[in-house]
Amino acid sequence: MKPLIVANWKMNPESLVEAKRNFEIIKKGVRNIKKVEPVICAPFIFLPLLKATNHLKLGAQDCFWEDKGPFTGEISPTQLKNLGVDYVILGHSERRKYLGESTELVNRKIIAALETGLKVIFCIGSETKKPDKEMKYQLKIGLRGVRKQDVAKLVFVYEPVWAISTSKNKVIATPHEALKGGLYIRNVLGEIFDKETAKKAKIIYGGSVDSRNIRGFIKDGKMAGGLPGAASLDPHEFVRIVKKVDESLGH
Ligand code: PGA
Repeated sequence: MKPLIVANWKMNPESLVEAKRNFEIIKKGVRNIKKVEPVICAPFIFLPLLKATNHLKLGAQDCFWEDKGPFTGEISPTQLKNLGVDYVILGHSERRKYLGESTELVNRKIIAALETGLKVIFCIGSETKKPDKEMKYQLKIGLRGVRKQDVAKLVFVYEPVWAISTSKNKVIATPHEALKGGLYIRNVLGEIFDKETAKKAKIIYGGSVDSRNIRGFIKDGKMAGGLPGAASLDPHEFVRIVKKVDESLGH
């Protein structure tokens, strides 16, 4: 799998016109990129109107755990898949914080999304400066019932809550802190599955990623990509992030 740069647009932009315009700028900007997989995780309402290409994939920011039925306001993994969506972000700390989403619910969503054939971008992180038991809990409960052969369809995001650009006391994580978070996730995956599976797992970093710091996270933090939120709202900046990673991989 190529390194992944995932734009988390969150509840932005305010109109379809803007979403389409930003998507087109990015599509043009990444059309010659071969060594990186850029993904745009847009709000549900924009997804049917943005067309994924070989160079630019689409992702959702959440999904429900059933395929269809009486679940007012929800969107199923099958509906996303049928729309040409490849990825879904699950377990984001903002959903845990503002919607009270529990790790048990995240687990049901992960299982359903994997069964449908979506690739899952699973966010792991806590409020503490160093990786802690909360992250272990998120991984152990979040992955309950996931088979080890399915780990290849998951992308783990080390996303310390304190490093998210909109968090109150934001401090940008260093590549070394990202490295430690990644190692922690890998160790827990080793406990849940086995060393081989843990070694192969794809772990990316999220939290104030931009075009100036992405290389450090990849090179020194040994991350397999990044999940920019705020920086991805500027389509030119998102393209710069993707290009920085592509260039850093050499020929
Ligand atoms: P940020 O958001 O890049 O604005 O910190 C990342 C995220 O929360 O996914």
